[in-house]
Amino acid sequence: MLRPMREPVVLVTGANGEIGHGLIETLAVEGGARIVALDLVALDSSLASKCHEVVQGSILDRELLHRLVSRYEFRTIHHLAAMLSTRAEFTPGAAHEVNVQGTLNLLELAAVQSEWSDRRVKFLFPSSIAVYGMPSLEVKTSMRRIQEKTWNLPTTMYGCNKAYCEHLGRYYARHYKQLSTQSSSSCGVDFRSIRFPGLISAVTVPSGGTSDFLPEMIHAAAAGKPYACFVRPDTRIPFMAMPDAIRALLLLERADESFLTRRSYNVTSFNPSAEEFRERVMARWPDADITFSVDTKRQAIVDSWPADVNDDGARADWGFRPEYDLDRALNDYLLPGISGRSEPRSVT
Ligand code: SER
Repeated sequence: MLRPMREPVVLVTGANGEIGHGLIETLAVEGGARIVALDLVALDSSLASKCHEVVQGSILDRELLHRLVSRYEFRTIHHLAAMLSTRAEFTPGAAHEVNVQGTLNLLELAAVQSEWSDRRVKFLFPSSIAVYGMPSLEVKTSMRRIQEKTWNLPTTMYGCNKAYCEHLGRYYARHYKQLSTQSSSSCGVDFRSIRFPGLISAVTVPSGGTSDFLPEMIHAAAAGKPYACFVRPDTRIPFMAMPDAIRALLLLERADESFLTRRSYNVTSFNPSAEEFRERVMARWPDADITFSVDTKRQAIVDSWPADVNDDGARADWGFRPEYDLDRALNDYLLPGISGRSEPRSVT
């Protein structure tokens, strides 16, 4: 009997977010990937034309997800949809629903998909430095390059959600239905996750995150708007330019599974203090009005995140190297990219 054919595609959830923008643009330039984009809000028109289909809807809508499975064969899922750390603190229950239940729905979809196609479905998940929780500023300052297995004591709902979803991903990848007599290693969910640092894009401005202070600062300066930075000048966490984040996602997606020694990897690129970054921005826009007005609650969240992370695993297992250190990020990506735009897109 002939099986009805479904089209093989890449599913991108949270497609209209910051990473979604970068990922869809890059996949479109590479060519070859048929992208089904899912987001709560309408996709920017510049992205929509690069997708095979755009679906406006929620990852919590299981009927919608089932309808998608009936039409498409998802070979790879980039599950980017999430409620970020600051916003999540205002509605922790809703954040848990979106970040955990939403991820569970997608993992289930991937598992069902895999059973149908008899092949492993790649599941790429952006985790975060928010999974770490440094107990004090003293410890944060003394422990510089944090390894994946240490300090996994998140203080935010978002960080807890990401940490738990990493466990769910590991479960679906290695232990799913472990008592079934039919378990087979040829199918299942091939979960791979990156603990991203703060990300800076020349194209979009984030909102709802707690690492937003650097991107907000540079985009405000470029737009000639005053900016009051919500953390202390000496605040230091790792960051990365968006093109490196996209490259990392695609490198990990394409890595041979046998080379992977873990399912969640740190990556990082540069970690200026807020003041050091301000000085770089002021060098480009000397009239920029950048001040500091500390929000002690958001400061406490950033203080719980490490000053730097150790990404030796990503470098050894799948050849990750950031192409943009701070100088290159500013000179070759952010400054020309931001200066050339009239209005950056604000995304959630
Ligand atoms: N950028 C995220 C946030 O600030 C952390 O991964 O919520």
